[in-house]
Amino acid sequence: MAQFQAVKGAKDIFPEEIVRWHYIEEVIRSVTALYGFSEVRTPVFEYTELFQRGIGSTTDIVGKEMFTFLPDPNGRSITLRPEMTAGVMRAFLQKNPGGGVPVHKLYYISDLFRKERPQAGRQRQFTQFGAELLGVSSPAAVVEAISLMMQVFGTLGLHGLKLRINSLGDLEDRSRYREELRRYLEPYRDELDEASRERFEKNPLRILDSKNPAVQGIVAGAPKLLDCIKPEGRAEFDRVLGYLADRDIAYEVDHLLVRGLDYYGHTAFEVVSSELGAQDALGGGGRYDALSKELGGSAEIPAVGFAVGMERLIIAMEKQGLFAALSPRGPQVFVVLQDAGLEEHAMRIADRLRRAGVTTETDLAGRSMKAQMREANRLLAGFALFVGQDEVASGNFTLKNLRTSEQVTLALDAIPGVLLESSKL
Ligand code: HAM
Repeated sequence: MAQFQAVKGAKDIFPEEIVRWHYIEEVIRSVTALYGFSEVRTPVFEYTELFQRGIGSTTDIVGKEMFTFLPDPNGRSITLRPEMTAGVMRAFLQKNPGGGVPVHKLYYISDLFRKERPQAGRQRQFTQFGAELLGVSSPAAVVEAISLMMQVFGTLGLHGLKLRINSLGDLEDRSRYREELRRYLEPYRDELDEASRERFEKNPLRILDSKNPAVQGIVAGAPKLLDCIKPEGRAEFDRVLGYLADRDIAYEVDHLLVRGLDYYGHTAFEVVSSELGAQDALGGGGRYDALSKELGGSAEIPAVGFAVGMERLIIAMEKQGLFAALSPRGPQVFVVLQDAGLEEHAMRIADRLRRAGVTTETDLAGRSMKAQMREANRLLAGFALFVGQDEVASGNFTLKNLRTSEQVTLALDAIPGVLLESSKL
């Protein structure tokens, strides 16, 4: 075993796998463009208070999952970002302190850090693709966010996903519901597991999405949050559902869906995949109108967004065989030296081809011709170009198609044209 291993819960990604990432990222970039979203990048770390205020101090993320450190003895505590929404809103408020800006549509593909117990689909460093719509959170905006997410899944060919949706109402609705829920749970308090007993005081709504079957049995009969929501909120939620139905986006209203971050209000949603086992949430999101004020913004900035775990997306796609057509691409040409003394010529030829836009490999290790041909095949090169004394003297080179074994002899200047033409086939 090598002396050093990657940190627990963090993974290396080598070229065999990176082709999958590039493919998914390309789909994300093209679908987000269809909806008018542009990329945003924010720092990997933020002041710890941002997450305490933004995500909520009673949440699991803030309570026990953050990688937090002091940059220097007198410095302010810093945390590696466990999610993107708080940072994106912070950046937006910093850039637009007075508010009053048009709608912003932002997306990201970013690395995040959470100190969770690693398992399949759960890492300590992971990547999310997400989108945030800032400045509007109307039912149309909520459905635009959901549609974008579902269109990415659809374009990738994923099937069998379930969209779960609920409304969390406004602050008042939730505080009324919290009391109702406590009243309902009170007689069962001793039957709750330890985590739920703790949540009973601090954040009873999170008991609803417990994974413990005994607790699930108890909350199955709990009053529904949706029944505590004022008529305006209810009507808005119904519009969201209507627009989804209109677009043939299937959903399931899930009364137990509450999400694990405190900034949500009104519509919240999650997408689950049966391919993922215990960690079945592929993505989630919702409206978070209150976050801007929570972070000290002078005006409330209505907002809605979602994020999808890239590693989980890859697991689900792999299970459904959606990478089968992704073959790694070799170089268009491998420059083969017939004699090591010609290295300088070979380098010059490789340089000319690359400058002309042809992907080119050449021998860097002084190998025999046979070994060079083996390497060309291992790399899945399209053509071999032979460099010998005669070729250098005449300026004409033999190009061998490594699939069909056909050979042609051409002047060097004609080669890029032929290769570029053949790569289009
Ligand atoms: P979240 O539900 O915490 O939401 O995370 C979204 C997705 O990130 C999850 O559904 C999952 O696929 C992936 N994920 C979370 N933790 C891990 C982990 N430890 N390892 C691998 N994948 C993970 C948010 O983060 C919100 N910021 C979403 C949002 C955006 N809401 C509004 N805008």
